[in-house]
Amino acid sequence: MKSTVETQVFENIADLRQWRCRLRYKDNFDRQPIVGFVPTMGALHQGHMSLVQKALQECSHVVVSIFVNPIQFVKGEDFDKYPRPFEKDLELCVRAGVHAVFHPTCEQMYPNGQASLTRVVPPGELTGHLCGAFRPGHFEGVATVVAKLFGQVEPNYAYFGEKDYQQLVVVRRMVADLDLPVAVVASPTVRESDGLAMSSRNVYLNSGERAVAPVLHQTLLTVSKNATSKALTLQEALADGRRKLEQVPGLTLQYLEACDAITLEPVAECKHPMVVLVAAKLGDVRLIDNIIVPKI
Ligand code: PAF
Repeated sequence: MKSTVETQVFENIADLRQWRCRLRYKDNFDRQPIVGFVPTMGALHQGHMSLVQKALQECSHVVVSIFVNPIQFVKGEDFDKYPRPFEKDLELCVRAGVHAVFHPTCEQMYPNGQASLTRVVPPGELTGHLCGAFRPGHFEGVATVVAKLFGQVEPNYAYFGEKDYQQLVVVRRMVADLDLPVAVVASPTVRESDGLAMSSRNVYLNSGERAVAPVLHQTLLTVSKNATSKALTLQEALADGRRKLEQVPGLTLQYLEACDAITLEPVAECKHPMVVLVAAKLGDVRLIDNIIVPKI
């Protein structure tokens, strides 16, 4: 069913700001709006739309940004070929009843270029391992653009998926360290029926790679079960998971690690709260996933 909300589309920051300002001062002088924000790089799937639905339930106005952020891609990554189906994304936002879609250009976001830019540098203990070790500079690019988007949208609540768990921890820490007036809301990973975590990059998988991709989720479930049932120690469970993944044809394991779910510090033994995270390449496609291990 189509929504009755008329979705505004903003291509530049000044127009977005004007809308945001009017929301606060003109139309809603008596009752302040609650703005929910879902930052995305587009190629929207059910994972993104679950964040949008949550935001719509909890906020009076919802903004979705669609911006493929060049400064979070490491040299040699897929910035140029990253999917950009803007019309389809917009249609999904309109149907859902999103109030505003912010779709800036790189020139709008980085008017002084990318080389000389004031950047947000998250602490090394959060970004030096896991994905950060394989994508140097990535989280600096994420934190910088998210800080800029927060300044432009001025949300009360910002919604992030748990699939990008390290990103979620980095953003939470940035908000805390910089006293940004926004509450970060995390939402569970949305999965295909065979367990594969939804991701805009899944479209790159060929049919053979797609068939084996759920092995990441299955391995996380097995590690969690083996460690919590005490069938194996945590380190044995991780070693067993790594061994199995390394035997999958076409799969290159980058990491399978257990970390404190709040600080992301690697843990030697089971503790609570704990997250097990994995990254692997299937052919050229890099996939990540994680599981929050239930309390024993
Ligand atoms: O998760 C993403 O899609 C991106 O990293 C984000 C948060 C939109 C920043 O570009």
